[in-house]
Amino acid sequence: MNNHTSTARDTVLTGITTTGTPHLGNYVGAIRPAISASQRADVNAYYFLADFHALIKCQDPEKVHQSTREIAATWLALGLNTDNVVFYRQSDIPEIPQLTWFLNCIAAKGLMNRAHAYKDSVQKNLDAGEDPDFGVTMGLFSYPVLMAADILMFNGTKVPVGRDQIQHIEMARDIGQRFNHLYSEHFVLPEAVVDDHVAVLQGLDGRKMSKSYGNTIPLFLPEKQLKKHINKIVTNLLEPGEPKDPDTSTVFQVWRAFASKEQTDAMRREFENGIAWGEAKKQLFELINEELREPRERYNELMDNPEYIEKVLREGAEKARAVSKPFMERLNRAVGLYSLV
Ligand code: TRP
Repeated sequence: MNNHTSTARDTVLTGITTTGTPHLGNYVGAIRPAISASQRADVNAYYFLADFHALIKCQDPEKVHQSTREIAATWLALGLNTDNVVFYRQSDIPEIPQLTWFLNCIAAKGLMNRAHAYKDSVQKNLDAGEDPDFGVTMGLFSYPVLMAADILMFNGTKVPVGRDQIQHIEMARDIGQRFNHLYSEHFVLPEAVVDDHVAVLQGLDGRKMSKSYGNTIPLFLPEKQLKKHINKIVTNLLEPGEPKDPDTSTVFQVWRAFASKEQTDAMRREFENGIAWGEAKKQLFELINEELREPRERYNELMDNPEYIEKVLREGAEKARAVSKPFMERLNRAVGLYSLV
């Protein structure tokens, strides 16, 4: 893990699993920083919709399909620069599952046994008195191998991820290194990039905003709904005029993720002066709505125009395959799969 800024020689690569509808926590923690990085012309970047990964968590075809459309529309609506970034759908790149198999053949099972997500599932089963592998699929077990293929295929050097994904990047390094050792140097080894300055947003109930807690505020709610959700953020019983502690308040924490430094300082004083919760929430709604109004309009237009999204994704896949196809030919040769004549 490191926080080095990327240079022109780096390849930044990250995947977005296509389950669920993007919420404010995803926006602040991952989407906004990635899109702002995409505005810089000097980095080589690959962002992709990890729809093969989605199949591990979700076996509802409608949901997987809908989420792919929503997530693609979200990133485009927020201004992802697809001239600078290769933006594609994982399932459009047949070389990824091919490479996954090569990597499966060399990845140590013992390494996969140590993966947090797998271990958590086993622990839950044990706690419930079940068989340790109850409900554990090979997809879940080999999740890190598919992720390694995503990264190594494009020789991603910097991989922006949340803390929970650091172990997966280390596994990708390990697997890539082993391949290099067996078949000579084909892969550049990746590093995780975890941004400590990016806010981890709190949800309606004050815990981390997360789909699994059911406490999220979806990113592109219609205005009225957005207002309603913001009004549901938990507060305490302090009356208007009573000083409030900004540092333990979810309303303030969310404010800070959207506000400038000056606006944050001003709101801190308002809290100390006893701003009413209703008033603080009203201002919070206005602040967030201001930032999201235009992207929301673009999002709604894009959702009504899947042909356009599809076209953008196909163009991205073409750019990605210009790299993955010849690279896969080289890897086939490296492992001994090539023409007899
Ligand atoms: N597993 C990642 C997540 O849940 C998504 C992902 C899939 C990814 N492939 C990747 C992230 C490759 C970075 C690189 O967040």
